[in-house]
Amino acid sequence: MPNTPTDQALFKAAEAVRARAHAPYSRFHVGVALLADDGEIYSGCNVENAAYPVGNCAEASAIAAMVAGGGKRITRVYVTGPGSAPVTPCGGCRQRIREFADLDVQIISHGVDGEPLICTLEQLLPHSFGPEYLPK
Ligand code: THU
Repeated sequence: MPNTPTDQALFKAAEAVRARAHAPYSRFHVGVALLADDGEIYSGCNVENAAYPVGNCAEASAIAAMVAGGGKRITRVYVTGPGSAPVTPCGGCRQRIREFADLDVQIISHGVDGEPLICTLEQLLPHSFGPEYLPK
C-alpha cells in the first residue's frame, strides 16, 4: 500500500470529503482526492439528486474543484468508498479523468476497509480517445 506523506494526505482528503457526500438514494458515499500539477489537492464527493440521472460522481466534483481552483493536470487520484472492495471510477469518470491526466497516472481505488487497487489510467481505460485526437 502506498504510504508516502502525499498518499497519506490524499487518502485523508478523500475520506474527509466522503463524509460530506450527498447520497440519500444509494447511501454509497464516495470521496475523491486529486493531486494536481500545481501541487494542490482537490477533492469532491458524490452529489445525488431526486431526479437520479442528474446526480454527480465524486470524480466529477473533484475535477470541477480542480478546474475552478486553477489546477490544469491531474497527477494522482485517490477514490475511497464503503466496504472492503476497491471502488473504481465508473466508465464515464474514467473518461473525465482522461481529459486531464496522462495515461501513466496512477488511480488508487479503496474500499476503506480493504486493500487498495492501484491501476494506471491506461489500465482502466485502454485504447482510449482523448483531446489529442481532435484538430487544434
Ligand atoms: N460513485 C461515485 O461517485 N464514484 C465512483 O467511483 C463510483 C460510484 C457514486 C455514484 C452514485 O452516487 C453512487 O456512487 C452509487 O453508484
